[in-house]
Amino acid sequence: MPLSEPVDVFAPDCLRGQVAFVTGGGTGIGREIARVLGRHGARIAIASRRRDVCEATAAELRGQGIEVHVDQFDVRKAFEVERVTKGILERFGRLDILVNNAAGNFPAPISKISYNGFKSVVDIDLLGTYNCSKAAFELSMRERGGNIVNIAAAFELRGVAYQAHVAAAKTGVLSLTRSCAVEWGPHGIRVNGVNPGATGETEGMKRFADAVHQGEQRATNPLGVISHGQDVAMSVLFLVSPAARHVTGQVISVDGGSSVDELKMGPIAQESGR
Ligand code: COA
Repeated sequence: MPLSEPVDVFAPDCLRGQVAFVTGGGTGIGREIARVLGRHGARIAIASRRRDVCEATAAELRGQGIEVHVDQFDVRKAFEVERVTKGILERFGRLDILVNNAAGNFPAPISKISYNGFKSVVDIDLLGTYNCSKAAFELSMRERGGNIVNIAAAFELRGVAYQAHVAAAKTGVLSLTRSCAVEWGPHGIRVNGVNPGATGETEGMKRFADAVHQGEQRATNPLGVISHGQDVAMSVLFLVSPAARHVTGQVISVDGGSSVDELKMGPIAQESGR
């Protein structure tokens, strides 16, 4: 049963006047987040290691009437993160929303992950989230408040084959989410997370399907459907919107229920006609 087309239930101008920075916003889930936040009135900044893909996404968003700032950086390098954050503040004069979406991933069994491979993923996902959050806090949000949303994964209670490095990094991101929420709440900053499940049309999903399912992108969640980046983006929108003004330190899983499906019987349960 396919999911129906995502429906916009938020006021189209609910983020008017705000500026949102989406790391890794040139592709995949990040692009959808940039699009959804922009469509709801925010001015958008996107940056990643690949300026060309960010420029292509920016052109697309500008065509939809969204104002977009593009830069290039590696989230692992704190000085680059600081430079890019300053550039956003120079261009737009404010920074209200940070979405830590940039991530690195490759599927591999633990014995095949090199020390550098493990470190690369932890550095991009966890250290990168720290670097970007800290820069946003120091350069703007400490004084003006804001919203941070970290894109993580619901891996903290399970072992995850072929994803040991990613699971370790993303679990760290969830912990950091809670710590930032507690420390920065008094500054008017809300910090929340979204855990995507298997999300179609993403580099991560493609790599995993290629490595584990002979290229087939399978939905094994109870809803029986692979989600779309826009489903993740709509939860990000909720978290940064005034509808969530008393929500901080929380995480929403957008995974068709896979994280609560103890026996992984999703499709089987459907067939049994429950
Ligand atoms: N299997 C095993 N090891 C791998 C690998 C794979 N598929 N891909 C990369 N590595 C290892 C490399 O061999 C290297 O380790 P080594 O120096 O011991 O040989 C290490 O990971 C770093 O790789 P490198 O490509 O030099 O680093 P990078 O910093 O440019 O790349 C990655 C970071 C590894 C995360 C890379 O996969 C990447 O750029 N990903 C971005 C896109 C992406 O992952 N999107 C999905 C997000 S969910």
